[in-house]
Amino acid sequence: MLPVKYLYVYTIGCQMNVYDSEMFGRVLQPLGYASTPDLDQADLIIVNTCSVRKKAEEKAFSFLGRLQAMKKKNPGLVVAMGGCVAQQEGARVVARMPWVDIVFGTRAAGRLPAIVRAFQETGNRVIDITMDEAPIEFLPPKDAVKKTPVSTFVTIMRGCDNFCSYCIVPYVRGRETSRTPENIIREIEALVADGVREVTLLGQNVNSYGLKEGICSFPDLLRKVARIDGLARIRFATSHPKDLSDDLIRAYGELDKLCNHIHLPVQSGSDRVLKRMNRKYTRASYIDRIERLRAVRPDIAVSSDMIVGFPGETDEDFEQTLDLVKTIGYDGLFAFIYSDRPHAPAVKFPDKVPEDVKKKRLEALLRLEKSLSQMRNDAYLDRIEAVLVEGRSKKADADGGFQWSGRSSSNKVVNFPAPGDVKGSDITGRIIDVRIERCLPHSLWGKPLHGF
Ligand code: SAH
Ligand code: SF4
Ligand code: F3S
Repeated sequence: MLPVKYLYVYTIGCQMNVYDSEMFGRVLQPLGYASTPDLDQADLIIVNTCSVRKKAEEKAFSFLGRLQAMKKKNPGLVVAMGGCVAQQEGARVVARMPWVDIVFGTRAAGRLPAIVRAFQETGNRVIDITMDEAPIEFLPPKDAVKKTPVSTFVTIMRGCDNFCSYCIVPYVRGRETSRTPENIIREIEALVADGVREVTLLGQNVNSYGLKEGICSFPDLLRKVARIDGLARIRFATSHPKDLSDDLIRAYGELDKLCNHIHLPVQSGSDRVLKRMNRKYTRASYIDRIERLRAVRPDIAVSSDMIVGFPGETDEDFEQTLDLVKTIGYDGLFAFIYSDRPHAPAVKFPDKVPEDVKKKRLEALLRLEKSLSQMRNDAYLDRIEAVLVEGRSKKADADGGFQWSGRSSSNKVVNFPAPGDVKGSDITGRIIDVRIERCLPHSLWGKPLHGF
């Protein structure tokens, strides 16, 4: 038995980084690493970074900056940087922060054990940002310390071929490559055997899953995943509006396990802006897709990402964004201020929008989002929602006892108290019918219909 060493992973960025961070823990187990939630206990710290906006990149460097003092106190500590900023900056990271021992890119997770071992054996800094994937064709052992979550992510494809003009992702994640359906199914079956009830299938553009390789379409993958016994719910992210096929809409009609929610980022409501963003769809075609979805699932929840202040965005363009938000009636919106990114063509676009205008637009959009989300949530009053319980809520009930928290199929957070007779039993992972009594802009509250 190897002596236990502790690994601390700090994750910034999207769900794919969360998935990758989980993999780091799993692939490093055979080297004797166990996860710790305590930074001071760590022998190896991995900072998994995001480069999508300047702020995310700064967050990574500010965290790494704090590690200098720790490294001075404990020279045996190994500091590693992974993810999208690592891929983007490579050796420049160590020129700026010489206390970083390992820099590894977005396709290096499979090589991580060899990278860490090489550093331990030689003490020589390792920089590995080659884009050749070392596929993880098996599910490495589960991290013994971590509790199995009810809901988890499964990356089905990596990279992106879309080259939206503002976006750095294709440059730091490389070209689109899909995992085989067999590999994905095996992973999900293993997760379900561990107690997972819900999976979110991840890709930058899941609609083009398998097309390049000709292995399986995304709707057919959903059909295969839906046949896995014991799996209760399936979600996916992210879907690109230009590739949302009629077959995917049909799958929503066929598959009960497919949740009643779609995240379909539109980015802007103005055709002029969409064109310069290289999104390859129009406002009208986007609305058409949503209408077709709603014909199959009338109460499907729809959420989106939105960028404000894209170069050249006029007041009129922004008004069209607000108008589209009202037309669709989103259930949730992630709104971002446009940020110049290296490699992305929009860096060179003229007519940059001043910071104060961008901020005002963001505030206006968020105000509208809040009122619309409240309206959409108000419609849930008195409805009975099937809630997949994820664990205890942080909020207390009226008597000071705990409440349970989970999500509806439409991805709404629902909190509810346990009925008096079963306060002690653990209902994590169960689906409970809850009658909704209170509707807040970003969550719902209700009471269970039956005892457990
Ligand atoms: N592949 C997904 C999005 C991945 S990035 C898709 O195409 O929908 C997540 C979100 O970050 C994007 O949807 C976009 O809204 C935002 N984003 C990307 N680049 C950005 C930039 N340069 N400035 C501001 N927001 C950006
Ligand atoms: Fe970026 Fe566009 Fe690819 Fe999404 S689809 S990751 S926004 S380039
Ligand atoms: Fe960020 Fe990389 Fe994801 S840039 S959003 S962590 S793909």
